Amino acid sequence: MAAANLQSVPQPQQAQGEEAPSAEDVAGQAYFDRVIAEDSRIEPRDWMPAAYRKTLTRQVSQHAHSEIIGMQPEANWITRAPSLKRKAILMAKVQDEAGHGLYLYSAAETLGTPRDVLNQQLLDGKAKYSSIFNYPARTWADMGAIGWLVDGAAIANQVPLCRASYGPYGRAMVRICKEESFHQRQGFEILLELSNGTPAQKQMAQDAVNRFYAPALMMFGPPDDDSPNSKQSMAWNIKRFSNDELRQRFVGMIAEQVKVLGLTLPDPELHYDEAAGRWIHKDLDWQEFKDVISGKGPCNAQRMARRREAHENGTWVREAARAYAQKQAAKRAAEEIGAA
Ligand SMILES: [Fe+2]
Ligand SMILES: [Fe+2]
Repeated sequence: MAAANLQSVPQPQQAQGEEAPSAEDVAGQAYFDRVIAEDSRIEPRDWMPAAYRKTLTRQVSQHAHSEIIGMQPEANWITRAPSLKRKAILMAKVQDEAGHGLYLYSAAETLGTPRDVLNQQLLDGKAKYSSIFNYPARTWADMGAIGWLVDGAAIANQVPLCRASYGPYGRAMVRICKEESFHQRQGFEILLELSNGTPAQKQMAQDAVNRFYAPALMMFGPPDDDSPNSKQSMAWNIKRFSNDELRQRFVGMIAEQVKVLGLTLPDPELHYDEAAGRWIHKDLDWQEFKDVISGKGPCNAQRMARRREAHENGTWVREAARAYAQKQAAKRAAEEIGAA
């Protein structure tokens, strides 16, 4: 039992002039508190506090948007992949990301907001997505750095989310994490091959790692003392580790892996402080993070323009799917009348 959790779960409060919570809400809150305290799962039809629903809708839909926008930097390289094998691997990876977006939109919808509403929030620029996808993928080696560092950071972030208290989200993450491991491996392997290639190839790999290192560390979000919502998410068993804890795990992992690659991380300060029991890394530029998240990154405009264009181009598919669904419903209705 995690009694501490209960203390930070908001209790129904009665403001002046407001009606007292209904008996159903009181019972619902008690059930919710018990499920969270027992580290069990909340399912779509269960009672849940409005703030829990809102937080999850935002988190899961932003996660879905990130998967969909995240297809772009790599999709741009499918036609330029250096061999048939690399093309097939990259294509499979980009398709996986589309699948991740779809599982996550499905999970988000179970919280009550329809998918087209969530999608419109992205198209209108009202919803955010991961800042990392607003950086350009300049060379083939970037496919390696993105797989190794970006998918690697995603795994560090997402493995604990497999135990998220909201059932549909946690279950979606299980499959996603399996596929992310493949993504990280393929990225690592691209870098390894380049690192063992010509001096120019090795330099290209190093340059890609240099550019993606800091943005990948920023994927875990702002430092803990500047992350006001984290505490509540941890109390609700959505998040299991703080931003800084996850960043620590990740940096410790890549500090070892980079040696196998024969490359270096662009962080001369990086070392493990035995006394403090933590990795010390260079200061990250949080102003840059805020700028990129709020639309001022190098590729924000391009990513959104491409997404809107793809949505437009898909209009006929949505119309055809709707017409087919109506036809099937009419057919079923006619059959029911016939059978009656
Ligand atoms: Fe993904
Ligand atoms: Fe991935």
